[in-house]
Amino acid sequence: MSRLSSKVPYDVVVVGGGIIGLVTAWRAAQRGLRTAVVDPAPGGGAAQVAAGMLAAVTELHYGEETLLALNLASAARYPAFAAELTEASGEELGYRSCGTLSVALDADDRAHLREVHALQERSGLSSEWLSGRECRRLEPMLAPGVRGGLRADDDHQIDPRRLAKALVIACERAGAEFHRQWADRVTVVRDRTAGVVLADGTGLVADQVVLAGGSRSGLLAGLPEDVVPPVRPVKGQVLRLRVPAAYAPFLQRTVRAVVRGSDVYLVPRENGELVIGATSEEQGYDTTVTAGGVYELLRDAHELIPGITELPLVETIAGLRPGSPDNGPLLGPTVLPGLLLATGHYRNGVLLTPVTGDAMAHVLTTGELPEEARPFTPKRFGARQEQTV
Ligand code: GLY
Repeated sequence: MSRLSSKVPYDVVVVGGGIIGLVTAWRAAQRGLRTAVVDPAPGGGAAQVAAGMLAAVTELHYGEETLLALNLASAARYPAFAAELTEASGEELGYRSCGTLSVALDADDRAHLREVHALQERSGLSSEWLSGRECRRLEPMLAPGVRGGLRADDDHQIDPRRLAKALVIACERAGAEFHRQWADRVTVVRDRTAGVVLADGTGLVADQVVLAGGSRSGLLAGLPEDVVPPVRPVKGQVLRLRVPAAYAPFLQRTVRAVVRGSDVYLVPRENGELVIGATSEEQGYDTTVTAGGVYELLRDAHELIPGITELPLVETIAGLRPGSPDNGPLLGPTVLPGLLLATGHYRNGVLLTPVTGDAMAHVLTTGELPEEARPFTPKRFGARQEQTV
């Protein structure tokens, strides 16, 4: 038997206080909705691990043109979003319009990068082919063997830890309430979501519940089978190095490559942090940092930037990307009235934060997804997928 925490129901209860849940709650509260966030440690989750690349161009993959449109829409909103959030929270976010350089280390890599360049051009994206010498002129720490590269001046970065902290503050200031514990289950009454029961038995009554639990979104008890989101954890191990003042500027922009089939990237922050990522492993809910993962990241990053061996290694960490069947997020209403999803952002959670907040606030207040988010309805999966928004 649950007890009610409040006689006044919430308009919205967001389950999950990672950056996606927080931006949803912030935008909802700004629109005057009585909003709560349920999470034992708001601002935690994958944002504590992510490098924070805003990489619509350099993370474009074949067959993901629909996702590209959403990624580009979010990238375009980032400067205004970051300025508004900084104003609302009083926190700097580490947003840097630094650009990205993707490089090739051998002839095969170069041929592959040429194909990527052609795909980017076909998709209307802006990137410039550079010789190895031109790459090293931009980034003198690059290995002498670099054979060429793609300069993408529109792929930027933000510090996800600062982003998460700022979103918690902005939510509080906008009037969202935090319940700092796990959600135990969602309650369904007469085929409609009625709220959420917390781990201590408290019941929250809500008009709408948004499930934003990242890779754990499918684990909440009480979900009818046909609304369980098809998300899975994809582990990423990440390293943080520090660039001592004497070595600065070590890198000016994000540098990345595909080495032996794996993505490796180095993201230099203004505060001297250098983030190296990331493995991509299907290991269930395991977040162990392994010797093999650290070894591979250092080995691959060292092939790109040999000088990293001089830098202090200050942190190793692993997190879980919420993977979805088509690598796109699940946004908006499910077939269960009152239950919405904001999850499955996979490799693009940080990039998609602004557009997700806008789309979720729109659907929470109007019942309709905005145009750019419609392809990402959760109803595209599952037994009742003929019902699209
Ligand atoms: N977006 C980078 C990653 O998921 O590793």
